[in-house]
Amino acid sequence: MELTITQPDDWHLHLRDGELLGAVAPHSAAHFGRAIVMPNLRPPITTTAAAVSYRESILKALPAKCSFQPLMTLYLTDSMQPEEIKLARKSGVVFAVKLYPAGATTNSQDGVTDLFGKCLPVLEEMARQSMPLLVHGEVTDSNVDVFDREKAFIETVLQPLVQRLPQLKVVMEHITTADAVKFVESYEGPVAATVTPQHLLLNRNSLFQGGLQPHNYCLPVLKRETHRQAIVSAVTSGSKRFFLGTDSAPHERRRKECSCGCAGIYSAPIALSLYAKVFEEAGALDKLEAFTSFNGPDFYGLPRNKSKITMRKSPWVVPESFPFSFGEIVPMFAGKTLQWQTFMS
Ligand code: DOR
Ligand code: ZN
Repeated sequence: MELTITQPDDWHLHLRDGELLGAVAPHSAAHFGRAIVMPNLRPPITTTAAAVSYRESILKALPAKCSFQPLMTLYLTDSMQPEEIKLARKSGVVFAVKLYPAGATTNSQDGVTDLFGKCLPVLEEMARQSMPLLVHGEVTDSNVDVFDREKAFIETVLQPLVQRLPQLKVVMEHITTADAVKFVESYEGPVAATVTPQHLLLNRNSLFQGGLQPHNYCLPVLKRETHRQAIVSAVTSGSKRFFLGTDSAPHERRRKECSCGCAGIYSAPIALSLYAKVFEEAGALDKLEAFTSFNGPDFYGLPRNKSKITMRKSPWVVPESFPFSFGEIVPMFAGKTLQWQTFMS
């Protein structure tokens, strides 16, 4: 079986910097036309100037004659000024601003402590400039159960936000619950969501199967099976509000397999194969292309890619790890056999 589709983009990607960037950027560039690149470096990318320079480092890390385009983002802080949004828009290289509630996830310590108290002028400028807000949708209150943090965020932050700024484009990143599906589907304004391969294929049992499974640990954490099923139904329904965002988040093996392991699943080299599996199993392969290649650029107001890729059913084994100069990265489904392979047309 063979499928030729418009080249996909990845609307949520962690490329890191330094040696790790060099190791992972070619994997994304091998399949995707563009990617929205997350700004949670150390220090975070909080200015347009920093985004321009990070973009140059990414371009240098790509193989020769590669047309992959990194679409840069800024990391929202309590002290960001509306002027920065104007600079970002004018630069032509920044395409969104990412909201990390302070303390929610990896390198979020400089994130937002009080969205409505500190960031309203910036959010208003974003609405004027049609600059999307990308949201890590979890509350950080330690009294809220970790499995309920997305739902609590929708109720306490997202609903008030879209009511206050109905023009603001909002992407709820890496959704994990039926509550998020419902919020995105039912709100009339410009709200969309990215969906990762792990939240389509795994439920929270996979964290504990035969022992603790650090390579299945990400944030927001995997949820129960009913939530997974709701997300699969949403993406395979043909709704334009859901699009591909891998949240591929590489960490060196020893930072995952230790007493306090990092959150993040590395999926870039296998992501397309996994999305094809989900759509095939749902009997919805005819809806795959819109999810991977149309809904994202349409929401962002960008042109769809012109080139095509071919996906063919031909079994292959995911490598156990990808070595680089300082260590190795273990991908999602390491050592497992997958059915779909991608070829550039
Ligand atoms: O699992 C995650 N890893 N979730 C995030 O939100 C951040 C990411 C990372 O940067 O490692
Ligand atoms: Zn992420």
